[in-house]
Amino acid sequence: MQNPQEVQSVAAELARRMAAGRRSLATTSAKETPVGVILGTGLSGLAEKMNDPIAVPYAELPGFPASSVASHAGAFVCGRFPARCGEDDGQGRTALIQQGRCHLYEGRNPAEVCMGVRVMAAMGVRTLIVTNAAGALNPNFDVGSIMCMSDMINHTGATPLAGPNCADWGPRFPDMSEPFDPDLRALALETACKMGLRLERGVYIGVHGPEMETPAETRLYRQWGADAVGMSTVLEVIAARHLGMRVLGLSCLTNKNRPDCMTPTPLEEVIAVAQTTGKQLGRLIRALMTKL
Ligand code: HPA
Repeated sequence: MQNPQEVQSVAAELARRMAAGRRSLATTSAKETPVGVILGTGLSGLAEKMNDPIAVPYAELPGFPASSVASHAGAFVCGRFPARCGEDDGQGRTALIQQGRCHLYEGRNPAEVCMGVRVMAAMGVRTLIVTNAAGALNPNFDVGSIMCMSDMINHTGATPLAGPNCADWGPRFPDMSEPFDPDLRALALETACKMGLRLERGVYIGVHGPEMETPAETRLYRQWGADAVGMSTVLEVIAARHLGMRVLGLSCLTNKNRPDCMTPTPLEEVIAVAQTTGKQLGRLIRALMTKL
């Protein structure tokens, strides 16, 4: 579903709150459009590294869906990432962070899942970094590593584009031949390499959840060509591409799913690994900010 009036009204309220906190995204020049970032499970810490952050809790934005997942903070945070850690020399980059998201498995619909992306677009975001916690399917990938998404499979059974198309947002049949921007992917790989950080590349499959995968599903997804599985991201990427945004996708691989020796993956384990790997992911995103 496409709901331009609801998105406009949330964006207007967010803009009003940002302006009240004296950070007007509207005044940034075209080159200085804010970079959008969606932070997933256990990854909220990045927002704390910004200078002059202004946080607006989702609960204070009428019509914006809150996340019911405890490991997801619920706020938009706008601020500036300094070019060098700890300094604000004016060379940094303005970012609008969505700290936590809602999911289909919470009973939310695709329009609710994608409202954050659409609000960000209304606030001028043209480049989006989407992060998540995911289970590794590729046997060569280690728990605790980061994967740059090269492509994705939407296996949720849903799409945010059903129903009448909002032509102001994008075309009826948007192209998905390159869901993730090749230049951003190359930049992420080069930046990670310079930092001495190993970055895997692979295909993310998004499932509905909330149940974890069976061994047979795990085997099937691997045969389909997926390298990691998770319960978010794919609908957001579809909405972002519909809006013409450039997208970079980064997964924290919090567990490894091997169909022939499946073991339970407790949520606590996913959160603990995401918090540790999230620090490296945060360093990578901060380094990328100055180059976008
Ligand atoms: N499956 C689905 N979602 C996930 C997983 C997983 O193994 N790990 C983290 N999110």
